[in-house]
Amino acid sequence: MIIGKNLTKIFYHGYIRKTKIVAVNNVSLKINENETVCLIGESGSGKSTLGHLLLRLIKPDKGDIYFYNSNITKMKEKEIRKIRKYLQLIPQHPDLSLNPRWKIKKSLLEPLILNKIENKDEVLRRVLYDVGIKEELLDRYPHEVSGGELQRVIIARAISLKPKFIVCDEPTSMLDISTQASILNLLKKIKEEYKLSYLFITHDLDVAKIMGDKFLVMYRGEIIEENDNLEKPLHPYTEMLLNRKRLLENNGNVNNGCKFFYHCPYAEEICFKEEPPTVEVNGKKVKCFKYLK
Ligand SMILES: Nc1ncnc2c1ncn2[C@@H]1O[C@H](COP(=O)(O)OP(=O)(O)OP(=O)(O)O)[C@@H](O)[C@H]1O
Ligand SMILES: [Mg+2]
Repeated sequence: MIIGKNLTKIFYHGYIRKTKIVAVNNVSLKINENETVCLIGESGSGKSTLGHLLLRLIKPDKGDIYFYNSNITKMKEKEIRKIRKYLQLIPQHPDLSLNPRWKIKKSLLEPLILNKIENKDEVLRRVLYDVGIKEELLDRYPHEVSGGELQRVIIARAISLKPKFIVCDEPTSMLDISTQASILNLLKKIKEEYKLSYLFITHDLDVAKIMGDKFLVMYRGEIIEENDNLEKPLHPYTEMLLNRKRLLENNGNVNNGCKFFYHCPYAEEICFKEEPPTVEVNGKKVKCFKYLK
């Protein structure tokens, strides 16, 4: 349904001395109909950039994007506009994605007007029902609704044009645990009802397990693992993410121990709990449990 082939995206930072950042590096992936592919990886690994590439919100420096077998990589803005409604984004920062000076109703009607939808009020009523929002909310401004309600509004806007593919970019990372669960359930329900495919971006492995049919692990711009079972990781990095998560679950959230814990491939429980000693090894010194005999 959606295919990315050898996608590369490079950004340049700074004006005087430009630094090159390869945000996405030669990535290929395929998302089938009615499938949820979870994209996992830590901050800065290139997840959002990859999502934006697939939606053609940004153009790749190399590689191609196919939507139902047609190559949309170089499509002109005018052509893209025709298929835009099938490709939607639930953005990473919902609070920034609605115009704060517009009432919710105006934000929800805008895409319907732009796409010349005839029975706008009927469509609006349908999507409000589907995402579980009361009509009184329509007259409020974004700052007058809760985080969970705001996320439902954004989901309503994303589904109002009957899309085929949605990139859900950390859709629940700003919400508290109980609201998070209700939004995840809603996204699952919507997926069935609308026969959608998702690229579901998250750094939370629990969320990934709940949502995903398939998992892609991204590290420094590359996909380093593709797997349909997170219980059986293949790449050491994925294994490390899972181990770290287990350690965090067992030990709570305060790190009294080694400052390198979060990045260390050898991290064990003790490294999390206690400050590592400085150990002498062949006349050299290292502050690490690994060298303690
Ligand atoms: N518009 C941009 N201009 C310049 N650099 C960018 C731009 N967008 C992303 N980057 C850089 O590309 C890299 C990947 O960023 P990206 O936002 O895709 O990561 P991410 O995996 O989504 O991270 P997070 O989990 O924090 O959202 C980062 O180094 C980032 O600074
Ligand atoms: Mg991101």
